[in-house]
Amino acid sequence: MAGALHQHQQELAQDQPAMAWWFLSLAFLGALYAAAFASRLLVSLTLLCLHPPKPKDLRCYGPWAVVTGPTSGIDRSVALELARRGLNLLLVEVANLQEISDAVRSRYAVKTAAVVSDLSLDVATPQGAEAARRLQDAVEALDVGVLVNNAGVVTPGAVFFHEADVEEWMRMIRVNLWGLTEVTAAVLPGMVRRGRGAVLNMGSASSEAIPSFPLYTIYTATKRYVAQFSSSLYAEYSKGIDVQCQAPFFVATTMVTGFSGIWRPSAFVPTPDAYARAAVPWIGLGRGGPLCVPNLSHRILWCLLAAVPGSIHDWVCLREHLRQRRSMFRKAASLR
Ligand SMILES: NC(=O)c1ccc[n+]([C@@H]2O[C@H](COP(=O)([O-])OP(=O)(O)OC[C@H]3O[C@@H](n4cnc5c(N)ncnc54)[C@H](OP(=O)(O)O)[C@@H]3O)[C@@H](O)[C@H]2O)c1
Ligand SMILES: *[C@@H]1O[C@H](CO)[C@@H](O)[C@H](O)[C@H]1NC(C)=O
Repeated sequence: MAGALHQHQQELAQDQPAMAWWFLSLAFLGALYAAAFASRLLVSLTLLCLHPPKPKDLRCYGPWAVVTGPTSGIDRSVALELARRGLNLLLVEVANLQEISDAVRSRYAVKTAAVVSDLSLDVATPQGAEAARRLQDAVEALDVGVLVNNAGVVTPGAVFFHEADVEEWMRMIRVNLWGLTEVTAAVLPGMVRRGRGAVLNMGSASSEAIPSFPLYTIYTATKRYVAQFSSSLYAEYSKGIDVQCQAPFFVATTMVTGFSGIWRPSAFVPTPDAYARAAVPWIGLGRGGPLCVPNLSHRILWCLLAAVPGSIHDWVCLREHLRQRRSMFRKAASLR
């Protein structure tokens, strides 16, 4: 009896180092997780606490602003807000530029110029090269101080990666990524020569604030490109040219309402006009780095979501996007 007890005590003593090792590993992992969590929270809180200081007079960069995609949505509201602040506008869009040009000139005493350019065209094709040359010529003739790269597409909507039509996602990559890069390449040399300029690239919270955006995989990947492109340009041209990436959550434009159907304007979903009023005063302000979330409701959302563990986020987001996918397919079937 005493012998058995002694043997049991010996086994326990042998297990102790193993248990201590386990305990230490778990404590270490816990500490790592807590540190990662704390740093995410810190980034979000910094974003939340940043207020726009005094907005700059954007005319200090030069009298002209280039805005892509200005016929609808955020882009249109940003264009009108820039004109309200006295900037002349060079508008770049596929078509229908007359209406927005007239709207700008009837409200504000500024000049407008238009370049019809389909940003989904490949510059390696004759039409693409011709569109790029037209843009280049228009930009070179003007003193462009501000560039707003807004044009973007989210087609084909919520679908699994293998379901997406290749032509459609190629087009999305061309507009969101190549188009933005080409327009920047056309405008930046002039800014470098003059030693002044401000660039606003429209990214998205879908690639910056949350760990994943399933069923919109290519869209969110193009937006990550926009953020990274902006961060590196921010560092590269830190003297004189202020590069920024804005990363909004939902804004009530047809891009969003068309796909999900639930995002009406609300406390967390500003109208494009409300978004533009918050966004334009941030242009050129590099406080806290190139990433910027101008709308206060979006900054609050950013903080709240930072507290949600990644796996829970992935699960909820996938469920919601699967719902959007079903409603999209139902709509398409009813149209047939
Ligand atoms: N709405 C949101 O919740 C949200 C959230 C995060 C980020 N964003 C980003 O904000 C930007 C503006 O989005 P939005 O909501 O205002 O969408 P929107 O209303 O659809 O505006 C996008 C604009 O881009 C233009 N465009 C599309 N394809 C083009 C092409 N091939 N060449 C030239 N222009 C083209 C569109 O012109 P047409 O009207 O002629 O197609 C439209 O004027 C996008 O980059 C988007 O990714 C939006
Ligand atoms: C942000 O969005 C909300 C609505 O979602 C709006 O009421 C508010 O005016 C916007 N602007 C700022 C500066 O936060």
